[in-house]
Amino acid sequence: MIRAVLKGTGSCLPAKVVSNEELSAKVDTSDEWIRERTGITQRYIADDTETTGTLATGAAQAALDDAGFTIDDIDLIILATATPDHTFPATATTVQHALGGKGFPAFDVAAVCSGFLYALGTADSMLRTGMAKCALVIGSETFSRILDWEDRGTCVLFGDGAGAVVMAAEDVAEDGPGILATRLHADGEHRELLWVDGGPSTTGTVGHLQMKGREVFRHAVVNLAGVLREVLEESGTDASAIDWIVPHQANLRILDATARKLGLPMDRVVVTVDQHANTSAASVPLALDVARRDGRIKPGDLIMLEAMGGGFTWGASLLRV
Ligand code: UT7
Repeated sequence: MIRAVLKGTGSCLPAKVVSNEELSAKVDTSDEWIRERTGITQRYIADDTETTGTLATGAAQAALDDAGFTIDDIDLIILATATPDHTFPATATTVQHALGGKGFPAFDVAAVCSGFLYALGTADSMLRTGMAKCALVIGSETFSRILDWEDRGTCVLFGDGAGAVVMAAEDVAEDGPGILATRLHADGEHRELLWVDGGPSTTGTVGHLQMKGREVFRHAVVNLAGVLREVLEESGTDASAIDWIVPHQANLRILDATARKLGLPMDRVVVTVDQHANTSAASVPLALDVARRDGRIKPGDLIMLEAMGGGFTWGASLLRV
């Protein structure tokens, strides 16, 4: 059977690290509050030379190197972001050009923190139906540019960065590698619990992120538990077979609650929220790259990717690496 198989991962973070202490000097907050409520200790913040496009290009090149591929092996780029370099063209086309590619489709996907799951699901469909043979799937964000730096309820939570994967269509055995199942959801009813109050067609401005954190938290735990159950059912997999959960990194308490719902211990959850904070669409591929490079995720492992974000949107994907 044809499946989308993981061939390589890469990531790229801005040079500048901002600790909780440094933020506390500028905003009415404390290292203690941020750590206790979220698990975050630091975040990376882009400077003027770093954009969603440059970070995405860095992550994509690292993923190509990891796979032993060049841009000539790629015939599709899908980039998930809520912070594109420009209103248009899609940042994916900027990345394509920066990597030396031409001709093949390259487009952005906007599903905020679930964006990487949406991009991966789209790439999986295109690879399995023969529309593409080898895809770069990227999550890249510069949320620092849309934060209200005077709102302590949101500005301490986010960071910048990018992660990327190379996925290739391969004919594999039933118990072989590849994406086994993906489920995606959206519910626009709750769009104003987590949104940006600007845009080209409404205010003509970029706007700032607004979030009702406590309510988002409650929906996240319920929605994630539901979609994880669906993916396990669809693939005929028992939760105990999962080697690693690679979740969206919004809050350590959400990761803990999700692991509990699956009956899995926290030592099977890849945690990067402490180092990266919430990098929206970048967080899942960033965490995946970290855990592959440090040797936790090994060939043959069964991993569950999951995310929930603005929209609301949410999704999960089960992948054998
Ligand atoms: O990535 C997309 C999905 N996003 C999420 O999943 C985020 C989900 N939400 C969360 O992670 C949590 O709700 C937060 C981390 C955002 C907030 O944690 P919380 O435990 O829900 O706190 P809260 O919003 O209920 O605020 C508790 C208190 C408030 O003070 P009072 O009203 O109790 O006196 C806030 O004013 O903490 C105060 N507070 C802060 N204090 C110090 C809020 N932000 C800060 C801050 N520093 N940065």
